[in-house]
Amino acid sequence: MSEKLMDVSVVLNGKKIIASVAPDMSLLSFVRDRGCKSVKCACETTNCGLCTVWLDGRAVLSCAVPMMRANGHEVTTLEGLQAESADFARCMAEEGAEQCGFCSPGLIMNVLAMEREIRDRAVAQGVEPAMPSDEDMDSYLAGNLCRCTGYTSQRRAIRRYMASRFAAAGEASAAAGKGE
Ligand code: FES
Ligand code: FES
Repeated sequence: MSEKLMDVSVVLNGKKIIASVAPDMSLLSFVRDRGCKSVKCACETTNCGLCTVWLDGRAVLSCAVPMMRANGHEVTTLEGLQAESADFARCMAEEGAEQCGFCSPGLIMNVLAMEREIRDRAVAQGVEPAMPSDEDMDSYLAGNLCRCTGYTSQRRAIRRYMASRFAAAGEASAAAGKGE
């Protein structure tokens, strides 16, 4: 007997996609089938972090998200964040934070989400964004397994990236305040 398909509609990296998918299809399989090969699968048991994507701007493990849950939502992968990911990749290179590179796609998605979340929260509260502590970083990145770096160089790269993003945001809001 043929499997009954389910209609879904998502916005993937800014582009609306309507598709019929198997009811048990994961978001991971869906985005990879649509060419988002930055999203990797290493465990399928929520233990490695390589399959991280954003669902409505929040980092999720796509191997654990059924397409039914993504239906009607906005999905972002590394392919949709080229400029920011290039910035963070530069910081990783400058801090020697990339060794084999296996964990990088998931790490980048988590770090970019963390930076946006901190900045958005600060804007909502009308305060300057604050650099996360080591503990905050560790708890945010807890799902991201890296077997090479010991995380120290990754934390340095995160600080470097956050500092540059916060500075750019501060300059933009100062310019807006002056009506430039
Ligand atoms: S493949 Fe999803 S957490 Fe490993
Ligand atoms: S750099 Fe090799 S697993 Fe992270």
